[in-house]
Amino acid sequence: MGNAPTLSERADELEHRQMQELGERIVGKSLIYNLADGDRSLGDNAFGGRMLMGEDPRLPAMPDRPTLLDFFRCRFDAFALTHLLQSANLAQKNGLSDRMVLACLLHDIAVAGFIRTDHGYWGAQMIEPYVDEEVAWAIRAHQALRFFPDESVGYAYPENYRRMFGDDYQPEPYVVAAYEEARRHRWYMSARIICVNDLYSFDPDVHVEIDQFEDVIGREFRQPEEGLGNDNTTASHLWRTIRWPANAL
Ligand SMILES: [Fe+2]
Ligand SMILES: [Fe+2]
Repeated sequence: MGNAPTLSERADELEHRQMQELGERIVGKSLIYNLADGDRSLGDNAFGGRMLMGEDPRLPAMPDRPTLLDFFRCRFDAFALTHLLQSANLAQKNGLSDRMVLACLLHDIAVAGFIRTDHGYWGAQMIEPYVDEEVAWAIRAHQALRFFPDESVGYAYPENYRRMFGDDYQPEPYVVAAYEEARRHRWYMSARIICVNDLYSFDPDVHVEIDQFEDVIGREFRQPEEGLGNDNTTASHLWRTIRWPANAL
């Protein structure tokens, strides 16, 4: 007990180990990581010494021309990925079109691989150049629609939202406005279908592999030949950021 390292010794050891793994490079964390810890600063290492640029040796190596599946396998959070796979599996079982199965597979792609805040908007932006316009629209809209019931399709306010946000939680005005706009949209039901397949897909007993959706992805996702991030679209920088999240600039 007496020899257990103190908190600061453990922090020093972690820093030392990371420096070794990183070949003496320093990780210049973006403000957003620190903001999420309630810290409004770039930290001590913001601009000192040789900084990490390019491949991060702590993360799985990615091929030069990464595909969507490479990001699934090398970057995404395993639990969130399971949720996406289960949702798409349910959509397939419900006999939905390839397009809607893909929408379910990618609906929380921002949560799984990038950022949680406004995940519908970020997720839609990540995939917009590569999918049918309706898929991106539905993914953007599902974020707002999840907070509002629609009895016509048996969709109630989610029980897990009560647990996560409390009974008295009220969506922000921009979410309410997005919901109202989506209700009047010709693709409303596509976004709503994502919600319907989202709600019942947290099942620990269902095991789904990504291979099940390789064909759907092949048919519905226009994978750029140069690789995601190398293709100079409006979303390329988002994929590069996920690939190299610790680049100093
Ligand atoms: Fe979502
Ligand atoms: Fe979801």
